[in-house]
Amino acid sequence: MLSVSNRTAQLEGSPIRRLAPLAVAAKKAGKTVYHLNIGQPDIPTPRSFMDGVKDAPIDVLSYSPSRGIAETREAFVRYYASFGIDLDPEELSVTIGGSEGFTFAIQTACNPGDEILIPEPFYPNYKGQALVHGVKVVPITTRIEDGFHLPPIEGIERLITDRTRAILFSNPANPTGVAYRREELEGLAKLATEHDLFVISDEPYRELTYDGEAVSILSLPELREHAILVDSISKRISACGARLGCIASRNKDVISAIDKLSQIRLSPPTFSQYGLIAFLRDPGYKETIGRMVAKFRSRRDTLFDALGTIPGAVLRKPEGAFYIFVKFTQIDDSEAFARFMLTDFDMDGETVMVAPGAGFYATEGKGSNEVRLAYVLEEEKLIRAVSVLRAGLEAYVNRRAEATVEIR
Ligand SMILES: Cc1ncc(COP(=O)(O)O)c(C=O)c1O
Repeated sequence: MLSVSNRTAQLEGSPIRRLAPLAVAAKKAGKTVYHLNIGQPDIPTPRSFMDGVKDAPIDVLSYSPSRGIAETREAFVRYYASFGIDLDPEELSVTIGGSEGFTFAIQTACNPGDEILIPEPFYPNYKGQALVHGVKVVPITTRIEDGFHLPPIEGIERLITDRTRAILFSNPANPTGVAYRREELEGLAKLATEHDLFVISDEPYRELTYDGEAVSILSLPELREHAILVDSISKRISACGARLGCIASRNKDVISAIDKLSQIRLSPPTFSQYGLIAFLRDPGYKETIGRMVAKFRSRRDTLFDALGTIPGAVLRKPEGAFYIFVKFTQIDDSEAFARFMLTDFDMDGETVMVAPGAGFYATEGKGSNEVRLAYVLEEEKLIRAVSVLRAGLEAYVNRRAEATVEIR
């Protein structure tokens, strides 16, 4: 019988995008939908980037070198140097977004049947990529009450088996906004060096850190051989469609593996690289990023304060990225709630789309009363969206109470 592979058949689809058809239907029915479900920034892509694309010195739109145009790699190296991270262009490859970067990292670190440790809740595509590569995700469960910081290192060590090959996380993290403290990373580094594990750190939100410090994995000298940095320009310069990022490591075997993986997929996008080269050549680029960060910080504060007024909401102030992961103690199935908001509810013609929590976990049953909200809308819209969300929660709880009474 003709059938697709077991691995693709098992893929769940993204919890962030799965409900999109319901949002389309809601809009068709005339509702305004506040999209708090997806991390697509609303900020215009910097002019210098767009001009770099427009003025790209291209007659033939050819493949770029597999590891990226030399100038792009040099521009990335200068960018890291501005954070005190010394890299050689040979230690870095340009990728098709961070998505390809963490895919390469998993492929480089793991064989089928191996295990990878990931703090949960995590960015769901890690789980999908692990699955299609035959790698088992072993979750390190973190809790909202701890601000999603890591549990004690002894607990993490107990999860390590002879199949464990790597620890993977985003920092600052999607979906929780946690920015790991240096001591936490040093704890992981100790485990990694003692147990020969790669440490894969996905850092697309580096500048979007409001409290604490974004510590890059490449700044831990003890991880010279173990660290793999994954990066992306998608979020920091609002260029998700550029599909551009990079992967860096000081381990020569890792670099050689990535070189080969890069060759078998040919090349990263040419136009976008010219955009990035131009952006990073602009002497004011740090200020451009800084203005965006100030906007997200203010949105975070606004959203956090507004959510705090919802009865039953349990939340901690995120330290970075542009997400908040919230528990609503009055619900027990956040997927059903997310559907309800799109199909059965509106307040004066408006509703809110949230990302249900369960898809961000590997542990069965976790996240069922949690949702991820992205603060990628202007503040007035965020305030309005929270009012709609509050009313939606009330309506959902009342509807369920009525249904229970009827069943009785
Ligand atoms: C932690 C994390 N890594 C990677 C990505 C994807 O990045 P890219 O657009 O560069 O593929 C995202 C997107 O939301 C993300 O949140």
